Amino acid sequence: MIGAGLMGHGIALTLARAGQNVAITDPMAEARASLPRRVAESLRLMGEDDAGTTGILERIEIVDSVAAAVAKAAFVFEAAPEKIALKQGLFAEIEAHAPVGAILASNTSVMPITEIMKGLKDKSRALGTHWWNPPHLIPLVEVIRTSDTSEAAISGMMTLLADAGKTPVRVEKDVPGFIGNRLQHALWREAISLVERGICDAEAVDTVIKASFGRRLAVLGPLENADLVGIDLTLDIHDTVLADLEHRPGPSPLLRQLAAEGRLGMKSGEGFRRWTPEEVKAVREKVVRHLRALEGILED
Ligand SMILES: NC(=O)c1ccc[n+]([C@@H]2O[C@H](COP(=O)([O-])OP(=O)(O)OC[C@H]3O[C@@H](n4cnc5c(N)ncnc54)[C@H](O)[C@@H]3O)[C@@H](O)[C@H]2O)c1
Repeated sequence: MIGAGLMGHGIALTLARAGQNVAITDPMAEARASLPRRVAESLRLMGEDDAGTTGILERIEIVDSVAAAVAKAAFVFEAAPEKIALKQGLFAEIEAHAPVGAILASNTSVMPITEIMKGLKDKSRALGTHWWNPPHLIPLVEVIRTSDTSEAAISGMMTLLADAGKTPVRVEKDVPGFIGNRLQHALWREAISLVERGICDAEAVDTVIKASFGRRLAVLGPLENADLVGIDLTLDIHDTVLADLEHRPGPSPLLRQLAAEGRLGMKSGEGFRRWTPEEVKAVREKVVRHLRALEGILED
């Protein structure tokens, strides 16, 4: 595991919790030193007991170089900062030190996997794994194929993730945003546009989603829902509404304006809405509580 930040610690704990041995590295001494505490805290929030936590921590070896982290790896996950040159450099180093059969995965949010992996000698074992935050609580991992990725690498990764209790989904083409972020940001584009056009305020957008279709999204996807209500009704709705939906190719001017004014969201105390530190803490805690409760409800 390369990178021991927000995503790296959660990916490492997920794999170790599933019984895998994990070697993890990070150039920041503080990230390495604080890793056991952060893993233990996440496990506590997940309801893991002390004995389980001790066992999981014993399977996570913290090392101080990429070479040491990948030397014996069957799978390498990279979760370093979202900078293309940094990731390309890391994969050159990973390829130089990992066993020849190891499958190499980047956890980039949106950057093309093909571009990240373009310098590798063997691109057939390289792919993307897009885990979602928090990686130990969100089941989905998108497994992204480039035109060079072998079927063996994809299916090997799908098996590892399924065995670790995740819900892996194949993304057959290396498109920006993969599947989940394309869908999510199609929704965000219209959400921002509704506010920009004065149709409602930001709170109303969020209330509409949370109090209506957001409630059923976890058990009824949009295409299942289209089949449920009928393809004919879906076609009639699209005939009326699609032409009025936001379809500018670039970001909203309102989003640019907020960014330019330093209204960056919860971290600056204001974005689309104002946030006190207490409200920010409450939102974060509510999300974790909700995800944990869903785990119990949605288990088949
Ligand atoms: N945070 C999210 O919601 C999220 C979701 C999906 C994917 N991602 C992606 O996962 C990756 C990691 O994101 P994060 O949120 O964990 O970031 P983060 O800042 O929490 O962690 C990044 C870690 O990488 C370390 N690092 C810096 N230079 C490095 C190097 N040369 N080699 C190895 N490690 C290095 C940093 O010290 C830090 O600990 C990014 O590509 C990000 O886009 C993030």
